[in-house]
Amino acid sequence: MSQKVTVSVIKADVGSVAGHSKPHPKMMRKCEEVLVEGVKSGVINDFYVTRVGDDINLFMTHYKGENHKDVHSLAWTAFQSAAKLAKEMKMYAAGQDILSDAFSGNIRGMGPGAAEVEFTERGAEPMVFFMADKTEPSSYSMPLSRIFMDPFTTTGLVIDPRAHEGFRFEIVDVMDSKKIVMSAPEETYDILSLIGDTTRYAIKRVMSKDKNIGTACVVSTKKLNICAGKYVGKDDPVAVVRCQSGLPAVGEVLQPFMFPALVAGWMRGSHYGAWYPCSVEDSDPTYFDGPPRICALGFQISNGRFQGLEDPDAPLGKKTPVDYFAGSVWDEARRKAVRASIYMRQHGPFMPSILGPEEMEYTTRPAVLGKLKDRMEKID
Ligand code: F6R
Ligand code: MG
Ligand code: MG
Repeated sequence: MSQKVTVSVIKADVGSVAGHSKPHPKMMRKCEEVLVEGVKSGVINDFYVTRVGDDINLFMTHYKGENHKDVHSLAWTAFQSAAKLAKEMKMYAAGQDILSDAFSGNIRGMGPGAAEVEFTERGAEPMVFFMADKTEPSSYSMPLSRIFMDPFTTTGLVIDPRAHEGFRFEIVDVMDSKKIVMSAPEETYDILSLIGDTTRYAIKRVMSKDKNIGTACVVSTKKLNICAGKYVGKDDPVAVVRCQSGLPAVGEVLQPFMFPALVAGWMRGSHYGAWYPCSVEDSDPTYFDGPPRICALGFQISNGRFQGLEDPDAPLGKKTPVDYFAGSVWDEARRKAVRASIYMRQHGPFMPSILGPEEMEYTTRPAVLGKLKDRMEKID
């Protein structure tokens, strides 16, 4: 057993009420019941079950390291049990991410997403958990590059001696299944020349150059190890970020989301919409299946457990994180996001409202072209 603690966030969409909107509370409770058993049997140490839009997110702590079979099987069992319930209740897209026969037009069987980070707990360990709905992992690349590379965002890069050393970035090429580790600030422009292409590259991991700190951030660009396959499609990704004491402060980590960047996903995974920062309660898709949501929850990791605002001996799983985007400060970003989203919608089915042809999750193009094949004439 490793001395290091591992925080695993594993998420899946296994069905929701009235469209791709919000899981039934009974499905969330079912996941909690499975994870209680996981604590009792010693697979995990602690957990919290939450959601963003139609995705259930399982936060877990344990001492088994990243990508551990038992932890992933536990999450799989939780999602399967919730999917079974969803099917019984005839929820929409019941079992979407784990069953091949879900009733939905969406791409399915893609498998749950996972972001896991193993580290030695510092004297105090504040973490921010980002959860996104109706978008893809590369949407985090712009805010993460601001947080970990941009001194006009993170003053700590200039005035905190450890942050001043810079950070290393693991970047994945999702088309070619390749990865590379690059270093900022030395390679900042090279890094940006890759990750600016959000259709191909995504930041997967950020590491402190201080060996006593280790990994700072992980994004869910990977799948549960029991599901076949590599990254495909819009995954409604999570990102876990360790903060403070040589890492960007919580405030520096949240700041970039004041700009509601246009991200790919939204309706039918095929549109650009503005990223709307909100509370978990406000994360139901309400306008054209969106706009894409981003939530941020805060916990301390204390002796291998999640410590929020609840009593330290609260029942298992009953936690109260800080819900950072709930506050009125974020009204400004929300207003801008709605305005930008309305503006994008005015383009209807035209680019740049819709994504490029390779990125569309739904398309009729091949069928239409096939039908028109004989009528299409060559131009001299
Ligand atoms: C996007 C999403 C929804 C659906 C849309 C159509 O990630 O989940 O926008 O793509 O509601 O869904 P179906 O094809 O199931 O009718
Ligand atoms: Mg969904
Ligand atoms: Mg979703």
